[in-house]
Amino acid sequence: MSLAEGLQHLDRSHAAYLFGGAADEITLQANRQAWQDLSLWPRTLRRLAGSHTRTDLLGRTWPTPLLVAPMAHQMLAHAHGEQGTALAAASQGTGMVLSCQASQPLEAVARAVLDDPARGPLWFQLYPQPRPDDTLALVRRAEAAGFEALVLTVDAPVQGVRDRELQTGFRLPAGLSAVNLKPAPQVPLAELLAGAPTWEQVAWLKEHTRLPVLLKGVLHPVDAAEAVARGVDGLIVSNHGGRTLDTAVPTAQALPAVVAAVAGALPVLVDGGIRRGTDVLKALALGAAAVLVGRPVLAGLARSGAPGVATVLRRLQDELVAAQALCGCHCPAQAPTLGLLR
Ligand SMILES: Cc1cc2nc3c(=O)[nH]c(=O)nc-3n(C[C@H](O)[C@H](O)[C@H](O)COP(=O)(O)O)c2cc1C
Repeated sequence: MSLAEGLQHLDRSHAAYLFGGAADEITLQANRQAWQDLSLWPRTLRRLAGSHTRTDLLGRTWPTPLLVAPMAHQMLAHAHGEQGTALAAASQGTGMVLSCQASQPLEAVARAVLDDPARGPLWFQLYPQPRPDDTLALVRRAEAAGFEALVLTVDAPVQGVRDRELQTGFRLPAGLSAVNLKPAPQVPLAELLAGAPTWEQVAWLKEHTRLPVLLKGVLHPVDAAEAVARGVDGLIVSNHGGRTLDTAVPTAQALPAVVAAVAGALPVLVDGGIRRGTDVLKALALGAAAVLVGRPVLAGLARSGAPGVATVLRRLQDELVAAQALCGCHCPAQAPTLGLLR
């Protein structure tokens, strides 16, 4: 399903929030282009019997390397909201990362899918809250609800410049809010910057949770090496889908350097502009352990709620299966042996 199909069901300003990017949307477009600029170099005559998409992540094996990226305020797209997305993801064996800015209680979302034996990973995304006690309370709730890892987003110390949202006058409608967070008054910039995540906060979080901690929004290999040194459990190469720093490097370009820097010490995931099974396979070929998908999920949600999300994820999974077979690739773990040409 194209993003345009999702747009038809939305108010213009809501669509600007859900599908827009920062400033001139150069990174938003470059993310797509960078995957398209890579050519798969298929192999033939390799054994495909028993091919599968099973994927090992953080000590467990999952049905597919696909996860839904954390995205705030999903009830803007459809009344089914995050719970609908989670149910649809579970029905397709896809993982789900729930945003801490979700529009529904994190416990209800977890409860809806936790006992499904065929689901993918269930992770919780975290922005550090202004008060450490509030961050800790969120962590405890996520642990108690059954989330299996924490994803600390580190690429958005301040909001990106969102021209499209400004032009359309986007505001959250009455009755919709980040229900898992304490209502926060507008914080002055100096205070925001003082509370921006640091390596010390990463260490603090690691000390205060029994869950694995992944960092989302790492693009530079020096930061990736630092993450390894500090005992982080995984990285997500991301530029927030082009919603924060416009003209930031596209993720398909940053991924190889990050993979090289961690040298297998921890799993590296990637998101941004992944729209086709061939994009997923290219990410795996570059060394990603798994991928996250953002806006296409929102397009499915906007079109018809949970069934729309399931359709989007099923197509992506079917495309991945086809792409693997057409490249002579037996399973995701074999993808790094594939060639890619620029
Ligand atoms: C509407 C929207 C809301 C988002 N909210 C969050 C969020 O709360 N936390 C976060 O870490 N990333 C957030 N992201 C970024 C996504 O997790 C992801 O990095 C990005 O959407 C991937 O790119 P793609 O949409 O091109 O697939 C959001 C993205 C969108 C489109």
